[in-house]
Amino acid sequence: MARILITSAIPYINGIKHLGNLIGSQLPADLYARFMRARIGEENVLFICATDEHGTPAELAAAKAGKPVADYCAEMWQVQKDLSDGFRLSFDKFGRSSSPQNHKLTQYFAGKLAENDLIEEQSEKQVYSNADDRFLPDRYIEGICPNCGYDRARGDQCENCTKPLDPTDLIEPRSAISGSTDLEVRETKHLYLRQSQMRDKLDAWIDGKKDWPILTTSIAKKWLHDGDGLQDRGITRDLDWGVPVKNGEEPWPGMESKVFYVWFDAPIEYIAATKEWSDGKGLDDSAWRRWWRNDEGAQDVRYVQFMGKDNVPFHTLSFPATLIGANNGEDKWHLVDYIKSFNYLNYDGGQFSTSQGGGVFMDQALSILPSDYWRWWLLSHVPENSDSEFTWENFQASVNKDLADVLGNFVSRVTKFCRSKFGEVVPKGGELNEQDKQFTTTLSASVDLYIGYMENIEIRKAASTLRYIWALGNEYLQSAAPWAEYKEDPAHAAAIIRLSLNLIRLYAVLSEPFIPDASAALMNAMKAEGGWPNDMGAALTALPGGHAFDVPENLFRKITDDEREEWQARFAGKRD
Ligand code: 2FM
Ligand code: ZN
Repeated sequence: MARILITSAIPYINGIKHLGNLIGSQLPADLYARFMRARIGEENVLFICATDEHGTPAELAAAKAGKPVADYCAEMWQVQKDLSDGFRLSFDKFGRSSSPQNHKLTQYFAGKLAENDLIEEQSEKQVYSNADDRFLPDRYIEGICPNCGYDRARGDQCENCTKPLDPTDLIEPRSAISGSTDLEVRETKHLYLRQSQMRDKLDAWIDGKKDWPILTTSIAKKWLHDGDGLQDRGITRDLDWGVPVKNGEEPWPGMESKVFYVWFDAPIEYIAATKEWSDGKGLDDSAWRRWWRNDEGAQDVRYVQFMGKDNVPFHTLSFPATLIGANNGEDKWHLVDYIKSFNYLNYDGGQFSTSQGGGVFMDQALSILPSDYWRWWLLSHVPENSDSEFTWENFQASVNKDLADVLGNFVSRVTKFCRSKFGEVVPKGGELNEQDKQFTTTLSASVDLYIGYMENIEIRKAASTLRYIWALGNEYLQSAAPWAEYKEDPAHAAAIIRLSLNLIRLYAVLSEPFIPDASAALMNAMKAEGGWPNDMGAALTALPGGHAFDVPENLFRKITDDEREEWQARFAGKRD
């Protein structure tokens, strides 16, 4: 049996994430993890995430909060952890890139790369700010993107066109700390990863990924062949906070006061967080290594990554370069098998933005509605094939229609009708007629379709098929009309209701990856167990006549026009 390793891009520690971040990696990854656990068993799925704690985003945010960076990161990890619990993100481990495990592994990989002659010391030109009295790496510097002209490009990457940058590439650079343009270029020594040496290997590897989404491969190809191709990349920085530069466990002469670049250590945290997970369980190293080392059991692992499009170059080029370089011609570290990437979610005519404080943030979302409402809207509108937009009108309409009118209404009509005619117990007796059987055939075909979309991580199609499966139940109820049938043929009405109650249990199973709380509420009310349907006949007879249940409380409430307007106004401004 194949195992599935799932990682979500690890969110920067610099504050609470907005809904655009959430739908850009963690939430879709959670959907897939929940689905796969139900399909192949919990023990065969490992879902890893963490906070990305190093580099300039962390330092700048800590400075703004007036806290030592280590304290800031520890506090913010807890805040992010609580919010991910609030959204029911079912990570097996939510680690920290500042963990001792990541320090050690990052130093290990650097050592391996050096041993394989893939690291070179270079004198580098770095931007120095006279006003700030320091070097300005990465996000400490902003300016105009040389590729697309975007005027708020940062020293490590242009957010607009995704091009990875070096600080000296920026046009009209300014300090992100003071805004000063009194900058000069000074020489300093840094370690470079010789990515250019691995260009052909990376090219061939990406060429082999015929089943990857076009969004993923097009970005990878773009930067692989851009200009003079894949360039060597500086992997060290003049910062205090980060993983100290070492050659494995040995000091690295001349690099004593430097740390590794955040984009070097962040993806290694996927591996380190797996070790954090196994250490936390008191397991020995073979437990995490069997997920990552092909020579230690990971050949049967399918490794799937989730991320926003701006992260694609680092996951298709830089991180694979680290692993391929460490492998040195062998097949030891397990490279990613599938990368699911996403476009951006925009906010009500503007942008979700951490730096500008626009949009709805995870804590704010949960303060007004339970997580299932957000999960359903976000996942069913995930920016899969193009950017998509959150509007309050659309949110209200989707929640009210899909969740309240379609799913909630079906559950309420079936359970309340049953209670009034047969009591809170699945009715016995009666047979399904041809029309009922035809419905189960249609249903079964849609369930197969749904499973196929979920397996392929086609999230929008999966969501609309699930919505269709819910709607089928309502249509069936409408045409089978058990309330009328009850007067003519009460036994047949009992059979219709028995099928419908079983459908509620099936809905709970199928919907769990999208709306886990509602699904658990339905399972509880039905006093039932989960279990993914292999055989539709068995799935629709799991609750036998005589099985007791409770009429569930209103599953979903509707969003009123007043609420919508109030929220729209409340979240129109900027968060401080
Ligand atoms: O874009 C981001 O939020 C980054 N912190 C993602 C890092 S993913 C990985 F490399 F670990
Ligand atoms: Zn750009």
